[in-house]
Amino acid sequence: MHEEKTKRLAAIKKTAENGGGPERVEAQHSKGKLTARERIALLLDEGTFVELDKYVMHKSDDPSIQKFFGDGSVTGFGTIAGRQVFVFSYDFTVLGGSLGEMTGKKIAKAMDHALKVGCPIIGIIDSGGARIQEGVASLDAYGDIFFRNTMASGVIPQITASIGPCAGGAVYSPAMTDFVIMVENIGQMFVTGPEVVKEVLSQEVSFEELGGARAHATKSGVAHFVAKNEYECFDKIKKLVSFLPQNNAEEPAIIETSDDPNRIDTNLVNILPENPYQQYDMKDIIKSIVDNGDFFEIHELFAENIIVGFARMAGRTVGIVANQPMYLAGALDINSSNKTARFIRFCDSFNIPIVTLVDTPGYLPGTDQEHNGIIRHGSKLLFAYCEATVPKITCIIGKAYGGAYIAMGSKNLRADINYAWPTAEIAVLGPEAAITIIHRRDLKSSADAAAKKKQLAKEYRDKFANPYIAAEKGTIDLVIDPAETRPMIIRALEALANKKESRPWKKHGNINL
Ligand code: HXC
Repeated sequence: MHEEKTKRLAAIKKTAENGGGPERVEAQHSKGKLTARERIALLLDEGTFVELDKYVMHKSDDPSIQKFFGDGSVTGFGTIAGRQVFVFSYDFTVLGGSLGEMTGKKIAKAMDHALKVGCPIIGIIDSGGARIQEGVASLDAYGDIFFRNTMASGVIPQITASIGPCAGGAVYSPAMTDFVIMVENIGQMFVTGPEVVKEVLSQEVSFEELGGARAHATKSGVAHFVAKNEYECFDKIKKLVSFLPQNNAEEPAIIETSDDPNRIDTNLVNILPENPYQQYDMKDIIKSIVDNGDFFEIHELFAENIIVGFARMAGRTVGIVANQPMYLAGALDINSSNKTARFIRFCDSFNIPIVTLVDTPGYLPGTDQEHNGIIRHGSKLLFAYCEATVPKITCIIGKAYGGAYIAMGSKNLRADINYAWPTAEIAVLGPEAAITIIHRRDLKSSADAAAKKKQLAKEYRDKFANPYIAAEKGTIDLVIDPAETRPMIIRALEALANKKESRPWKKHGNINL
């Protein structure tokens, strides 16, 4: 009797695990995609996955919708490097992974568990969007997911892998999560697909051009990471999770490192060219100061004029923010402000100290920036730094002019420890711009205006463009030897480890969205 029941379970388990059946699994593989369960197996520690709601079926009375166990998603829990996570993975082999009422309930249940437990939730998207036949029940299900995304925001890390279509309103849940990773040539995200674009705008555009990984990683900024294939995608998620705490009440784990916290780098200063107009790669500086040169960059292909990402210093996770002089001379613009403000807010939500490295000539001028809202978007960066109460350490390496000096983690935005290299140039305007304003008459009357400009620029640089005026005022705490940047930042991080800072009670701020 018992044996029969056990056999029955084994049989329905097998059917459930076949998803939409061998043909559809074969079709999934032939598109170069793994199945929902194969993906979870790659993500989680071997043998740790416990599936919930495996035998759920849709409740629609529409006889045209075939019933499958699981109803288009695989949900449950397991561990990544021993740490608890909840997951949901849309099963494209079942009704195109479309979201009906019951799939929605399954996903909402996994999210509720993750929030109650206080652990990351990881969603793997491969879905045709709202299940057309289930009508408003599908739309309601999305609404329930959006609500949970919002409740979980800032409480548990939310990560999305886009490995297939992600159409219609389905894109908004991923967009509300903290990190989106897309797999090249497979992940596609769009609110309206190419057919609608053609019909409404008479524009021909392919799925990939419209909403592929490259488009979202370089242009829209929706994708934080691009992976070459699914294997790389899951490796990246595992690495990302390793930098994060389980929830906002915990701190990231401190990982023992073989890299000496007192290691100095006498070559570091030479990365900065003598000529302030020459480009250099800020990533070389970052790699030199973090543990073992291991820098995990976020939004690598978007707004490349600023760099953000995670690293460890003396084993502690830090969020790095750094201008990139290789792109737009490291100027701040709309996209870089959005990218960085969101990153800072993530770090602040999850107790990750922020280390800022500064070399920027200022905000990017021009009608394009002004008319598209640099005032509105640029202010987000100020807001995010002011709001953040995690330890904030800033080091000015080169230029820090005008509004960009204030924006990039200045003392007055409540950074805790502000260092500067002796090469730092802190002033209201860069030398050329400043002298054309304050010496306009001298330059007009000069016989050799170019030579005069050069001489005045040198005088300006010597007088104003250095770190010592700010150091005299105490807005720079210390001018440091560049070779000692790593140990000095690590000591500051250690000193600030128990930092407590509060802000006035409010329902929430009103960041200039
Ligand atoms: C029901 C769907 C479906 C959907 C796909 N299927 N999308 N079933 N509802 N939304 C089914 C197909 O009928 C098919 O069933 C199977 O899934 C595989 O789909 P194919 O079209 O054969 O696959 P493919 O050629 O790879 O194309 C995938 C696709 C395409 C690009 C996703 O299916 C597509 O365009 N689907 C519709 C996308 C869409 O417009 N969704 C609604 C968005 S509106 P069989 O039985 O043949 O295997 C929305 C509103 C949400 O999401 C609002 C929230 C605020």
